Amino acid sequence: MPRYAYVNGRYLRHADAGVHIEDRGYQFADGVYEVCEVRHGQIVDLTRHLNRLDRSLGEIRIRAPMSRAALVGIIRELLRRNRVRNGLFYLQVTRGVARRDHVFPSAETPASLVITAKSTDPGIIAGKNAKGIKAVTVPENRWDRVDVKTIGLLPNVLARQQAREAGAQEAIFVDSDGLVTEGAATNVWLVDSSGRLVTRPAEHGILRGITRTTLMDVAARLGLEIEERAFSVEEMRSAREVFITAATSICFPVVEIDGVPIANGHPGMAAQRIREAFFDIAEKTAI
Ligand code: PDD
Repeated sequence: MPRYAYVNGRYLRHADAGVHIEDRGYQFADGVYEVCEVRHGQIVDLTRHLNRLDRSLGEIRIRAPMSRAALVGIIRELLRRNRVRNGLFYLQVTRGVARRDHVFPSAETPASLVITAKSTDPGIIAGKNAKGIKAVTVPENRWDRVDVKTIGLLPNVLARQQAREAGAQEAIFVDSDGLVTEGAATNVWLVDSSGRLVTRPAEHGILRGITRTTLMDVAARLGLEIEERAFSVEEMRSAREVFITAATSICFPVVEIDGVPIANGHPGMAAQRIREAFFDIAEKTAI
C-alpha cells in the first residue's frame, strides 16, 4: 500500500513528497512540530497536542497555517489514507520558503505545513515495557528555550546516537548543577522510597510533555502523589523506579542507567499501573 504525506495543500505519495530547498525548516530549523499517538483507531490527546502547537507557533512568531478545524480534518484524512490504526502522525510547521536570510521573510510568506503518518508495531512497545530500557546520562548542551517544541534537534539527535552506541535506548540530559532535565525525546520521572512520583517542573529546562500532563491526571485518579521538583543523578540512580514518558511510548520503565541497574533491575509496578490506566483517562478522538 502506498503511503501518503500531506505537503502544503496536497496529499502526495510519501516516496515522492518534498519541500523546496529554501524552506526555512531545511535552512534554519525555523519551525516547530508535534508527534501524536494513534491507538486502536483513535487519536490520543489531540487537543493538548494542538494547544501546545499553538503555543510553540506563538513563541517563535509563526502564524498558524489554517484553522484548527481544517487542520484536524487533514490529520484525519491522512490517517485514513495511510490506514493507521496504531501508530502516529508527525506534523511540522515552518516559516515557509524564502531566499536565505536570517531575518524573517515578509509577513505574506505562507508557513509550510507537512504531516506524515505511520503505523507502528504494538508488539515492540509491549516488549520494551516488559523488559524495560537502558539509558545513559549526557551533559545538557541545548539552548535555553527547550520549552518550545522546535525542529532544531541536533543535540537530541547526537545524544540519542550516543545512547545507541552505548547499547542504550535513551539519553538523559544532566545540567551543570548535576540535576536531571529530560531525555533526548522524553520526560524523566522517578518513584521515591515512599512511592511518590517525582518529575522536574516544566517551567524551565524541559519540554512540557503532553504525556507528562496526562500522566498527572492518571496519577490523581490512582491516588498517587506527585512532587514537581528537580532531582539529581544520584537520586535517580538510587530511586525505587525510573521511567520516561512520551507520546507513542507512554511510560517506559528504565531498568539501567550508565550500566548500573535501577533497584532490582526489573520494571516497577508504578509505571505498569500508570500505563494500564493511561488510555482510559487520556482524550480520544475518532479518526
Ligand atoms: N518527543 N521532551 C522532549 C525533548 C521530547 O522531544 C518529547 C517528545 C518529550 C515528551 O513529550 P510528549 O509527551 O508530548 O510526547 C519530552 C517526540 C515524541 C519526538 O520528538 O518524537
